[in-house]
Parts: sequence; C-alpha cells; structure tokens
Amino acid sequence: MAKVILLNGSPRKNSNTLEVLNICKEEIKKNGVDAEIISLKGMNIQSCIACNSCVGTGNCVLKDGLDEIIEKIREADGFIPAAPVYFGTARGDIMSALQRIGKVSRGNDNFLDWMVGGPIVVARRGGHTLTLQEMSMFFPINNMIIVGSKYWNMVIAGAEGTATEDTEGIEVVKLFGENVAKIIKKLN
Ligand SMILES: Cc1cc2nc3c(=O)[nH]c(=O)nc-3n(C[C@H](O)[C@H](O)[C@H](O)COP(=O)(O)O)c2cc1C
Repeated sequence: MAKVILLNGSPRKNSNTLEVLNICKEEIKKNGVDAEIISLKGMNIQSCIACNSCVGTGNCVLKDGLDEIIEKIREADGFIPAAPVYFGTARGDIMSALQRIGKVSRGNDNFLDWMVGGPIVVARRGGHTLTLQEMSMFFPINNMIIVGSKYWNMVIAGAEGTATEDTEGIEVVKLFGENVAKIIKKLN
C-alpha cells in the first residue's frame, strides 16, 4: 500500500501543528493511502555539516535519530513536512532535517524523486506565506511533486490546542490531504 510520511516540526505537547497533521493524515487514509506522523519533538536535530559522508553510503554521519526517519521516507510515496512559524520563518529543526534529508537523497538513490506532498505551516498571526515559500524550496530541487488545495496550507493558531478554530485553514489542509492521496494513486 502506498504511504505518506508527515513530519511534525513542533516541540510542544499539545501542538497545533500536530493537530493539523492528524487531520491531514486521516484525510489521506480516508482516500486509500496509508499515512504516518513522525515528530521531531524531543529530538535534537543537528544541521548538515557538509562532510559529504552520506554520498554513496545512503545515510547521515550525524547520529541524532534522523537516519531512522530517512529510512521511513525512503520507503514512502509522499512527504508532508509541517512547522510552526518562529519569528517569521520555520522552526530551525525542521529546516535542518529537510536539508539533511535532501542531501542524503541526492547523494545516493534519489529516493525523493516523484514523491508527492507539500509543506504545512501554523502561526498565531504572521509569517505563514514566507515560511511556506521557505519550506517549498525543498520540493522542486529534489524532483518532487507539490500538490495544491484551494488556498495555501496555512493554519492560524496561537495557544496550544486551538488549531481547529481556524475552520477555513482546516478545510484547506483536508483538501490538500485528499489531493495528495488521489495523485499518489493516479501515479501508481
Ligand atoms: C520562538 C517563537 C517564535 C514565534 N514566532 C511567531 C511568528 O513569527 N509569527 C506568529 O504568528 N507566531 C509566532 N509564534 C507562535 C507560534 O507559531 C504558534 O504558537 C503556533 O501555534 C505554534 O505551533 P505548535 O503548537 O505546533 O508548536 C512563535 C512562537 C515561538 C515559541
């Protein structure tokens, strides 16, 4: 069965980003594709050190748990990274993860090729669109397929557990999840 990995970049317990990803995951599953959320919460993701050790070996020299996540993405058909906005851009951990995931893919088996997905962002008030742009850069450079919806994948939420109050944002993410599943099924 085709599968999508959703990567949560929030460190919070009752994370809005996680809540949005759960809704997205259910929509993907409803449309006939398996989905799993992996969280960076509690991890300490380091930035790429440009050592090029991953080239030809298929994994990263930094042993902070990202290799296990890379293995899951390698087996998947879709990839959806999601992040809270911190000072107008994505939380650092998720960008560090994306840069290392991309480096390992490009230096080896190009496992990201034709993978379907797109980013999701959550913020209290501002910085959504720039953060979406920042995270979107990961997709075309890695020969991936970005999926649309009826608006951008942004949810407005500040306090923990308030993501579903942005009903329009949630509908956009639901349609995005449905589209991801449908496109994966068409490609397969
Ligand atoms: C360090 C820090 C910086 C933040 N910067 C912004 C910001 O630039 N714009 C904004 O709207 N919200 C900002 N926020 C609020 C979070 O984006 C918001 O609370 C979001 O819901 C957090 O998602 P989470 O619950 O998934 O962690 C910031 C929060 C923190 C901790």
